[in-house]
Amino acid sequence: MSQKILIDTDPGIDDSWAILAALRSPELDVLGLTTVFGNTDVDNCALNGLRLVELEGNDHIPVARGAGGPLVRSSLDLGTMVHGLDGMGNTNPSPPKGELDPMPAAQFIVDTIKKYPGEVTLVPLGPLTNIGLALHQAPEIASLVEEVVLMGGSVFAPGNISPLAEANVFHDPHAAELVFRADWDVTMIGLDVTTKILVRPADLDLLYAANNPASQLLREIQPCYQDFHDQFYGLAGAFHLHDPSVIAYLLAPELFSCIQAPVHVVTEGRCEGKTIADIHRIWGERNSTTVATSVDSKSVVELLTYIITH
Ligand code: BDR
Ligand code: CA
Repeated sequence: MSQKILIDTDPGIDDSWAILAALRSPELDVLGLTTVFGNTDVDNCALNGLRLVELEGNDHIPVARGAGGPLVRSSLDLGTMVHGLDGMGNTNPSPPKGELDPMPAAQFIVDTIKKYPGEVTLVPLGPLTNIGLALHQAPEIASLVEEVVLMGGSVFAPGNISPLAEANVFHDPHAAELVFRADWDVTMIGLDVTTKILVRPADLDLLYAANNPASQLLREIQPCYQDFHDQFYGLAGAFHLHDPSVIAYLLAPELFSCIQAPVHVVTEGRCEGKTIADIHRIWGERNSTTVATSVDSKSVVELLTYIITH
């Protein structure tokens, strides 16, 4: 039986690869996409969500628009420098054919979890605002989800939006804090592993050779993401694979090693958005999160390439 997942996302170039990989995996049953601000504004993210489900005929999968900004933080630092103004690498994509679900994302999350108690894995790939709102609206969802597997945070690796913070957590640290302190099972796929997963130009040659709609879309949008990684990290055409790594974890958790530790989020000041793992349980006041700390990077890239090309 396939695993029911609900993806909360800010597509986004790496979100696009993650969503396409999930849609193409028979092991996963994508119940819907909920969208949030982050890599671009929430309207663009919602349109991109629709485009992605339509790309290979998954128009029946609902896409619900969510939060346009963080719960408390006043500034909105969109990731357009990384993902383009349209979130699709400045490729100016044509409008989607379908319509958004009329339900706001947080309500969609609550209703979907309640419809399938104990069965839904929540997969956040962007700022955690919609999840925070859903928890606030219906705290009982914490006991009704199967688990939460998210891309965000960093324990040992440096940040990617500040010296300490990972972008998804930084965009809404208060929402992230709600997620890490709620009484549910959370797995954190953060920069500790995603910055070790490098996609190189030779991997892209394989990916693009498939010549199907998914690989062609990635071929169009990824140059913008590569340019950013060149300028920022000097990676010579290679790039870090963030969001798709979560899909790899769902399909093949044995490729990752994890530790158990309660995670706290700094919500104010210069270190805002930093995730702290209380490894020795010195504060000890909340459930442990499963934190991914090492990964078989080559196998993750091979798995995600295989899914897009077959
Ligand atoms: C995260 O931030 C966004 O740029 C990516 O889509 C990913 O979710 C990486 O820090
Ligand atoms: Ca994302």
